[in-house]
Amino acid sequence: MAGKQKSVYVCNVCGYRSPKWNGQCPDCGEWNTLEEEIVAVSAAGLQKRSSVSFQAQRLSDISQETEHRYDTGISELNRVLGGGLVKGSLVLISGDPGIGKSTLLLQTTQSLGSDKSVLYISGEESAHQIKLRAERVKVDCENLLVLCQTDAEAICEYIRSNSPDAVIIDSIQTMAISEINSLPGSITQVRECANLFMRLSKSLNIPLIIVGHVNKDGNIAGPKVLEHIVDCVLYFEGEKNNSFRILRAVKNRFGSTNEIGVFEMRNNGLIEVKNPSKALIEGKPLNVSGSCIACAMEGSRPILAEVQGLVCQSNFGNPRRMSTGFDYNRMSMLIAVLEKRAGYFMGNCDVYVNIAGGLRIDEPASDLPVTLSLISSLKDQVLRDDCIAFGEIGLAGEIRAVNSCETRINEAIRLGFRKCVISKYNLKELSPELKSKIEIVGVNNIRSAYDEALK
Ligand code: TYD
Ligand code: MG
Repeated sequence: MAGKQKSVYVCNVCGYRSPKWNGQCPDCGEWNTLEEEIVAVSAAGLQKRSSVSFQAQRLSDISQETEHRYDTGISELNRVLGGGLVKGSLVLISGDPGIGKSTLLLQTTQSLGSDKSVLYISGEESAHQIKLRAERVKVDCENLLVLCQTDAEAICEYIRSNSPDAVIIDSIQTMAISEINSLPGSITQVRECANLFMRLSKSLNIPLIIVGHVNKDGNIAGPKVLEHIVDCVLYFEGEKNNSFRILRAVKNRFGSTNEIGVFEMRNNGLIEVKNPSKALIEGKPLNVSGSCIACAMEGSRPILAEVQGLVCQSNFGNPRRMSTGFDYNRMSMLIAVLEKRAGYFMGNCDVYVNIAGGLRIDEPASDLPVTLSLISSLKDQVLRDDCIAFGEIGLAGEIRAVNSCETRINEAIRLGFRKCVISKYNLKELSPELKSKIEIVGVNNIRSAYDEALK
């Protein structure tokens, strides 16, 4: 039966759908982002079905299959993927332009391609440019095929007939299906191409990695729909002027989303940082006030980082407050707690907080080191170099317990620290063996924590 055609207007920034066109998207407020999309409504589909030809299965009857994983040769990437690249999965890797997505994927092909055929499809760079990069990062792999194409359907045909073992597509925003009447990178194209690649990877049972750009707000361009389609979403992040890069899973159907991988961008490509704590605290200045070592948990992994605080007299009526790598509102709250509950006044001071090395720590456990570094700077007293601190600070000025206390302390021991200042409520759960390896003090208020970090 002939189908009806219906138009919907889809915002290419947020994916909002509207039955009529608007100049401004009612959801995200962007202008001129609504695009027409034709949906065919099948008349037959609307009629009531009289019978179905499928049957639900009992969970206990479903046979268990072990998932097959490929080793990418980059252990930090394997970890984030949950133990390797799953066959038949669609992985999206996204990040700011120039952060190193293409470099990371090209480097992955070196080990993947040692015993499997890998197809690298680029819609952004020429084969010549890819060759230049491969030379720079020392990728020299017999089984790597490079294809510069943007026609998604032709690419699928090619993959079907050549059956590579793994495919990389750089990037989804450059791919297009010629029958769809909108530009590459528009929401319709991105979604339909992603669906096409999803079906392909499932039907051929090969892993497919696609690169996705982010828009100016830092979300994946073209947007949440893409995250729903794929099996795994990885974000590659880092500060522009810092060489550390962090790979983070925000969705993973085959593993945990807590793990991170740490890399450093060098002249000849990305190298894995196996010991991020050491790298992050290496440049810590000695005998300087306003510096305290924190221990943040990134998934199951403890990472030590240096928290720097600077408190100085403000020359203007309205003091400046700034934080890098730490939540601004949380910092304001801590300053208020310091004034009201511990008697350290900073109302007429400029206050700056910085997490050295470009790391971002959003955990409440970093409240205590942030606070200690601010007091240390305010009083211009140097804290002990071999001491770390962690604990959440409540509005009453109390130091609260945090999770994974033993793991954090073990990391401090591993890196040669001699003292830990923690919440007294965490102290009870620690084993005597751990207590014998390092001096651990439990405190319940900011003043005593500061005294302990000084001695
Ligand atoms: P690229 O992988 O092209 O980023 P993306 O694909 O995420 O846009 O990385 C480009 C940046 O990385 C570029 O600014 C140069 C830098 N870079 C290095 O510092 N060393 C290297 O070996 C390579 C290949 C790139
Ligand atoms: Mg690129």
